[in-house]
Amino acid sequence: MIQKIGVIGSGTMGFGIAFQFITNGIPVVLQDISEESLRLASEKLNTYLTIFREEGTVFEDSDKTIIDRLTFTTKIEELADCDLVIESATENLEIKQKIFKRLDEICADYTIITSNTSSLKLSEIVRYVEKRKDKVMLTHFFNPAHIVPLVELLKGPDTKQETYDEVDALMKKVGKVTINVRVEVPGLVANRIQVALAREALALLEDGVVSEQDLEKAIFAGPGFRFASSGLLKIIDFGGLDVWGIVLDQLQPAIESKVRSYSVIKDKTEQGYLGVKSSKGFFVYPGKGLDEYVIERDRSLIQQLKTFTTIQRGIEHA
Ligand SMILES: NC(=O)c1ccc[n+]([C@@H]2O[C@H](COP(=O)([O-])OP(=O)(O)OC[C@H]3O[C@@H](n4cnc5c(N)ncnc54)[C@H](O)[C@@H]3O)[C@@H](O)[C@H]2O)c1
Repeated sequence: MIQKIGVIGSGTMGFGIAFQFITNGIPVVLQDISEESLRLASEKLNTYLTIFREEGTVFEDSDKTIIDRLTFTTKIEELADCDLVIESATENLEIKQKIFKRLDEICADYTIITSNTSSLKLSEIVRYVEKRKDKVMLTHFFNPAHIVPLVELLKGPDTKQETYDEVDALMKKVGKVTINVRVEVPGLVANRIQVALAREALALLEDGVVSEQDLEKAIFAGPGFRFASSGLLKIIDFGGLDVWGIVLDQLQPAIESKVRSYSVIKDKTEQGYLGVKSSKGFFVYPGKGLDEYVIERDRSLIQQLKTFTTIQRGIEHA
């Protein structure tokens, strides 16, 4: 049973992953080579406990109990007795290969090691793992990891079903929704879908079909509104497979299928308009820093999570 977790990398994702577990009763050792990153994560912990409570989330434990479950370290060796280590360090193959190799050397025989990589292949990350090829996986969270429910799971060719089942059960126990990615494909499932949407949306913008404001509305008030409570296949079921079949046949040839380097992205990037972090991207973000805008977004996502949890319960009991 997984009773103690190590998380490597205390950046955007590592913090969120650690938060998810400690607020659900599981001790975490959070490791990073940067003391500054660990310090920022520790500050965020208090902030997010307050935000969740202000948004009406009920934790079973006091803030102190939750905070005491998280320990910070720069030494990877302190993860040696963890039942599960989730690697969420910088997206760089060499860094991840070194971390996996080291973990393989120092960790107990029973330790499962997973990676949160968004774009690298599990088979390459585990290249230097020798002792536990049966205990490696991908566990891909979504940002913010402590709010968005999905975790995509992928086994390697030698991963035991038992390892998968244990990780799957753990994620569900702490409130996550898991999917089994059966084949190692770049971007797994959800990011591929997101990129497919971005390809068409950016092409429509670049070709002058729609303004930036209206593109946002089209997604947010249209398909996005429905996707908040249903997946795609159920939407097709409601619309009718016969109807969708005709629409797909007619529209697919007109949909963007080229690989483009979008000037709407490139030009803004060159001008330094990088989005919220530089106060301007497609829209302007005046007066507040990135952190404040992130908190504002997360408050709204926490509310959404409550609705999601209610809908999810309904589906499970149907
Ligand atoms: N940001 C996202 O939206 C997102 C979503 C899903 C998955 N991911 C994946 O999660 C991982 C982390 O992404 P992030 O956005 O949190 O990055 P980040 O830059 O916020 O944090 C990365 C952290 O890793 C630390 N680090 C670097 N080398 C290390 C090492 N050898 N040992 C320990 N710590 C080390 C850095 O100091 C930093 O604190 C990446 O693999 C990324 O692809 C990111």
